[in-house]
Amino acid sequence: QIVPDLKAGSLAIAKTIAGLIRQKQKLKQKCVLGLATGSSPKTLYAELVRMHKEEKLSFKNVVTFNLDEYYPISKEAIQSYNRFMQTHLFDHVDINPKNIHIPDGEVKKEDVKAACTAYEQLIDKAGGIDLQILGIGNNGHIGFNEPGSGIHTKTRLINLDNSTRIANSYEFANISEVPRMAITMGISTILKSKQIILMAWGAGKAKAVKAAVEEDETEHVPASLLQGHPNVTFIVDEPAASEL
Ligand code: GLP
Repeated sequence: QIVPDLKAGSLAIAKTIAGLIRQKQKLKQKCVLGLATGSSPKTLYAELVRMHKEEKLSFKNVVTFNLDEYYPISKEAIQSYNRFMQTHLFDHVDINPKNIHIPDGEVKKEDVKAACTAYEQLIDKAGGIDLQILGIGNNGHIGFNEPGSGIHTKTRLINLDNSTRIANSYEFANISEVPRMAITMGISTILKSKQIILMAWGAGKAKAVKAAVEEDETEHVPASLLQGHPNVTFIVDEPAASEL
């Protein structure tokens, strides 16, 4: 779906999310959302906050699982995805803090593996993710699944590509402060979601979008592995669609 700009695209995604939350509320069911960070979803979260304040959209039945977190990082660090989610969404809506799940960037190295397994189990126990929201990295990564991440990967500790560290360095004082690792849901974790929406804004994403949707599925472009999913929508603005 090609939209004129990120505002239009973000409003459309917010409407889809709100519709799903309300539908699940009527059925007295939980709504399990997979959430992303980065600059791409900021307008989407602002719109959800507005809907909560002005249109009585409640998050009481919402359970969330975030895609990823830097490792190691303190939850309180301004660059942490934990802090990002509090600032942009959770602090402003009526979600139960017990329903919020974000990979733990503070866990001891020797406990990371167990924490990743536990994260996968929590998703399964919640009944799986109803709707996963994704951004896309300039190199085609989803979550922090860098090129080379296979279709069977699960939540795990990964090394960040240098290009990703450079792309994200604007959040840090300098490049040397960008963590070298991250904990991310795997490609198989993402593909288990019932529905997936990927958003891409700006010309910087045009090459990755083209490779993901028009070229063959390859681990070199992790977003291309979404081609095998039965219910995935890319919502892109015109600049991000310019190479299609
Ligand atoms: C980040 C995140 C991804 C995000 C992507 C794009 O590093 N780990 O989840 O989708 O890279 O980021 P942005 O939206 O800032 O362009």
